[in-house]
Amino acid sequence: MIIETERLILRPFTENDAADTFEYLHEPMVHCFACMKTETIEEARKAVLDRVKDGEYYFAIMLKENGKVIGEIDAMPEATAPDEENAARDTFSPCWMFNPEYHGKGYAYEAARAFFDYLFGEKGARRIYAYTEDYNLASQKLCEKLGMRREGLFVEFVSFVKDEEGNPIYENTYQYAILKREWEQNGK
Ligand SMILES: CC(C)(COP(=O)(O)OP(=O)(O)OC[C@H]1O[C@@H](n2cnc3c(N)ncnc32)[C@H](O)[C@@H]1OP(=O)(O)O)[C@@H](O)C(=O)NCCC(=O)NCCS
Repeated sequence: MIIETERLILRPFTENDAADTFEYLHEPMVHCFACMKTETIEEARKAVLDRVKDGEYYFAIMLKENGKVIGEIDAMPEATAPDEENAARDTFSPCWMFNPEYHGKGYAYEAARAFFDYLFGEKGARRIYAYTEDYNLASQKLCEKLGMRREGLFVEFVSFVKDEEGNPIYENTYQYAILKREWEQNGK
């Protein structure tokens, strides 16, 4: 699947994306991506190969002008009634991560808007929600720009990293969400 916007192409990862991907995976800016940290290009290559398998829901974000991969966006379908057999898998929680060199240029909004159109329009999404740390103003702003509602703050909700003594550092986490009908009404 290929999604095209004015300046970007969202496409499945390929093995050749390791070097570009390493640029943003070697130093994750937020704790929630600490487990994705790669120390070497070889590790990045393995990470990319994992992404290749999920080409329907895991996209490399490539600049049209020069073919460089500047980030990624993904979301897997989740069941809303997990106990029901054949429950609709109509809920998605996107992750977005960009190379810091390309922050603040509107690329994240442009990519996420197209991705939301794809999930709501073609993949049966009914609800899209996002978690973001209370200190991650860039991600909060992106959610708000996409028209997502801030639904709550989960205090000391989750831990991704430990302090020097090995104690978990807990994150305060906002949840944002938007329904398909809201997306259509907003005309985002
Ligand atoms: C979150 C992230 C994808 C946003 O990317 P970006 O390049 O800043 O996004 P855009 O340029 O499309 O900007 C979207 C809006 O956020 C605003 N914004 C960007 N960074 C901001 C910041 N640090 N503080 C406040 N607003 C910010 C922009 O000004 C823009 O709003 P505007 O058009 O009204 O001015 C990027 O910062 C990133 O990759 N961060 C590391 C990974 C991450 O945190 N992922 C989310 C985990 S929950």
